[in-house]
Amino acid sequence: MEKKYGFGIIGTGSIAAVHATAISSLDNAKLVACFNINGEHSDAFAKEYGIRSYHDIDSFLADSDVDIVTVTTPSGAHLEPALAAIEAKKKAVIVEKPLEITKERCEKMIEAAKANGVMLAGIFQSRFHEVARLIKKAIDEGRFGRISIIDAQIKWYRTQDYYDSVGWHGTWKMDGGGALMNQGIHAIDLLRWFGGDVSRVSSLCKTIGHERIEVEDTAGAVLEFKSGAIGVIEGTTASFPGFLKRVEISGTDGSVVLEEESLKFWQFRNEKPEDEEIRKKYSDFTSTGGGASDPKAIGFHGHALAFSNVIASLDAGVQPEIPGEEAMKAVELIEAVYKSSRDGGWVWL
Ligand SMILES: NC(=O)c1ccc[n+]([C@@H]2O[C@H](COP(=O)([O-])OP(=O)(O)OC[C@H]3O[C@@H](n4cnc5c(N)ncnc54)[C@H](O)[C@@H]3O)[C@@H](O)[C@H]2O)c1
Repeated sequence: MEKKYGFGIIGTGSIAAVHATAISSLDNAKLVACFNINGEHSDAFAKEYGIRSYHDIDSFLADSDVDIVTVTTPSGAHLEPALAAIEAKKKAVIVEKPLEITKERCEKMIEAAKANGVMLAGIFQSRFHEVARLIKKAIDEGRFGRISIIDAQIKWYRTQDYYDSVGWHGTWKMDGGGALMNQGIHAIDLLRWFGGDVSRVSSLCKTIGHERIEVEDTAGAVLEFKSGAIGVIEGTTASFPGFLKRVEISGTDGSVVLEEESLKFWQFRNEKPEDEEIRKKYSDFTSTGGGASDPKAIGFHGHALAFSNVIASLDAGVQPEIPGEEAMKAVELIEAVYKSSRDGGWVWL
């Protein structure tokens, strides 16, 4: 019989519900327990999903049915529970985006995972969407020729209440940033995954459409990839009514426009027989708002594919598709964007 991995969730807030649904959609996974520093929240979540609730992390981690831990605490509170799960030598620790709010905190997690021989995986569910994988394959096959420019546009909308009603939103300490570190990071990760490592970045970050927040709600950045291509990041949460996230890739032999899970443009100089099929199938493929105006409008299938990849990697004894080091790269890039806006000029990575 196929092994079922027991999952436990630390931090039972909004995204934890997506985790629970994603886990229950997999044949070889079972959600067994949860822990929240707020015991009432933990109990309510456990009741809803028919699992065990814990009010302290040590008892949660001592539950021998918990093989894999997912961390869904506020972004600046990922490190401590992740470290505890790593030191408890769970089989894998899966941490929501951003892995942590600074490169330094990400590195502590990565080093601990290595030292304890525990698999550490970040979550960027957009990488698992079919269209993202088609684009990556086309890049790897060289179909774009020389990539000239990649744009990541995350023009979303968040109400003032989104920031006012949840204490950690919009704070440096727990959110680690705003429109880029929280919302834009999905598209920024895709930009970097598609374009490769970045050598330098210059930017301007501002707070334009919200009050009482410490972080940016609007940012523009230009960057240079190590390949020589140019990248442009536009991120905001002050763009009513909120648009689906877009990544556009242009090259000397082809161009593609990705809008959430749809391909709005797919054309290469050397057309292949399957290209027409791809255009037909994916031109209108997006099924949710992707968080553009409603933070809760996130499908669970990307998370299910990410969890499934972790399980398959455990079974095969290999690294997952998005190990900690890979998840950290978007954080490092966004930190550089913030530094450039603060200090002026180019920041070299
Ligand atoms: N992948 C995605 O698309 C996606 C979407 C939304 C949120 N997220 C990420 O998920 C994380 C959580 O976001 P959310 O919107 O669910 O937040 P939330 O505020 O709704 O929930 C966080 C929960 O964690 C609990 N908590 C806080 N500190 C804790 C600790 N030390 N130990 C245990 N529990 C603790 C809180 O009581 C709360 O219930 C963030 O890092 C966010 O960036 C990812």
